[in-house]
Amino acid sequence: MNKKKIANIPYGPYITVLAGACVNGKPNYTTIGAYGVVSQKPVLYISLKNTHHTTKGIQENGYFSVNIPSSELVEKTDYCGMVSGKTNDKSDVFESFYDEAGVAPMIKECPVNYLCKVIQTIPIFDFTMFLGEIVATYINEDCIENGRPDAAKVKPTILMDTGYYNIQTRVGTIFTACDGNKA
Ligand SMILES: Cc1cc2nc3c(=O)[nH]c(=O)nc-3n(C[C@H](O)[C@H](O)[C@H](O)COP(=O)(O)O)c2cc1C
Repeated sequence: MNKKKIANIPYGPYITVLAGACVNGKPNYTTIGAYGVVSQKPVLYISLKNTHHTTKGIQENGYFSVNIPSSELVEKTDYCGMVSGKTNDKSDVFESFYDEAGVAPMIKECPVNYLCKVIQTIPIFDFTMFLGEIVATYINEDCIENGRPDAAKVKPTILMDTGYYNIQTRVGTIFTACDGNKA
């Protein structure tokens, strides 16, 4: 296969998630691609522009949520990435629920929800990376297969360049590619 050298733009793919925070007493959600894990510890990071409404809420309360929308929610997901809570009240776009472990709203319609307590912030360019310890995790019961979360049922939305994509099927099982002696 021939390779083509292209512009140094972070095209992805990334999982599209909705970061949630309580801002001025109301739930607010913003769409992000900048989300992930940093180690094997139960810690997630999100990276948000300093001027976002959601950023203000996380700084005020010290908690954020990460909500994984299924690809069926793509329109609402895109909407939350286009309008700001500063000018448009987004508190009714989704139904919110809460956990006693922390002050951040989570989205009922999203099959997976993480509630995180901020443990570190890293300023980077005009963004802030929030590292948060997971203090509560929820998953829809119908997204569990043999006692484990099943991505084919969660149906996360993949973001690459200008497009949203869904995933189709499971193609393998982790740590089964070799007998353990070669790695
Ligand atoms: C697909 C997509 C991905 C985005 N990823 C990020 C991101 O990783 N970080 C970020 O700060 N903003 C990101 N944005 C932009 C925010 O979602 C957008 O500016 C939003 O309106 C901010 O809302 P708020 O002011 O209510 O927090 C993304 C938008 C879209 C549509």
